[in-house]
Amino acid sequence: MTNTDNKIYQPSKMIHIRPTHLLSIPDDFEEEIKFFMPPAQGAGSLTTIESVMLLKLLRCVEPTFIFEFGTYKGYTTRLLLENLPESNVEGERIYTLDLPEIDNIDFQGGDKNLALEALNFKRKYLNSSKKNLVKQIFQDSMTLDAAQYTKKFQYIFVDANHEVSYVKKDTENSLKMLADSPSCIIWHDYGNREFPQLTQYLDDLASDMTLYHVEGTMLVFHLKGVEVPVRKS
Ligand SMILES: C[S@@+](CC[C@H](N)C(=O)[O-])C[C@H]1O[C@@H](n2cnc3c(N)ncnc32)[C@H](O)[C@@H]1O
Repeated sequence: MTNTDNKIYQPSKMIHIRPTHLLSIPDDFEEEIKFFMPPAQGAGSLTTIESVMLLKLLRCVEPTFIFEFGTYKGYTTRLLLENLPESNVEGERIYTLDLPEIDNIDFQGGDKNLALEALNFKRKYLNSSKKNLVKQIFQDSMTLDAAQYTKKFQYIFVDANHEVSYVKKDTENSLKMLADSPSCIIWHDYGNREFPQLTQYLDDLASDMTLYHVEGTMLVFHLKGVEVPVRKS
C-alpha cells in the first residue's frame, strides 16, 4: 500500500494471466471445436481469442446449465450451444437474457445502440438444430429474481448492461446462481475505456474473490474447483 498526498493507493488483487495459462489446464475433450468467425464490425461481440477462452472454460467446468446476461444477436449463445458438453438432463440448458424494450434503462457508452440492434434481431442460435436447448428470457436484468435459480448454473457469462449498477446487480445474482465446483463466472469488458467504473468494480471485487484477467482480452473470470496455473514471469 502506498500513501501519496494523503491518497491511499491499494493495488488490485486481480491476477493477470496469459491465454496460454488458461489453455494449459488439462481437459478431457477432443481437439475439435465448432467455431464461428466474429463479425467484422466487432462492436458488441467477442473477439476470436475471447471466444476461444470461453470455450476453454466450457471444457474446464463441463456445465449442465449455462446463464448468459446479454444475448445481443446470439453469437456467444450459439458458440456455447454448438460446443455444449453432453448431458443426460432433458430440456433447456442455456438460459440467455436480454431486454424486451429499452424504456427506463440507463445506458453507458455504446450500450443503447447495441440494445436497439438486438431488439428485433433473429438470434443466431435459432438456426441451430439444438435451439431447443436454449431458453430465451426477455427481462431487465435489474429485476431478475435469482432465488429461483439458486446454485443452478455451472457457467455464467455477465455481458449485459455495462453501467456499473447493473454489473453489480448481475454479479450479486450470479454469485447466488453459481453452482458448486466446478463452475465459473465470466465478465466481459474489463478494461474497456467506455466503462471505467466496471473495470474499477472488478478490480475491487478481486479483493473478495479470486479473479483472473486474461491478457489481450477484456475477459475476467472466477473459477471454482479447477486450478489455474500461476504466472511464473
Ligand atoms: C454486449 S451485448 C451482449 C453480447 C453477447 N453476450 C455476445 O457475446 O454476443 C449486451 C446486451 O445486453 C443487453 N442489455 C442491456 N441492458 C440490459 C438489461 N438491463 N437487462 C438485460 N439485458 C440488457 C443489450 O440489449 C445487448 O443485447
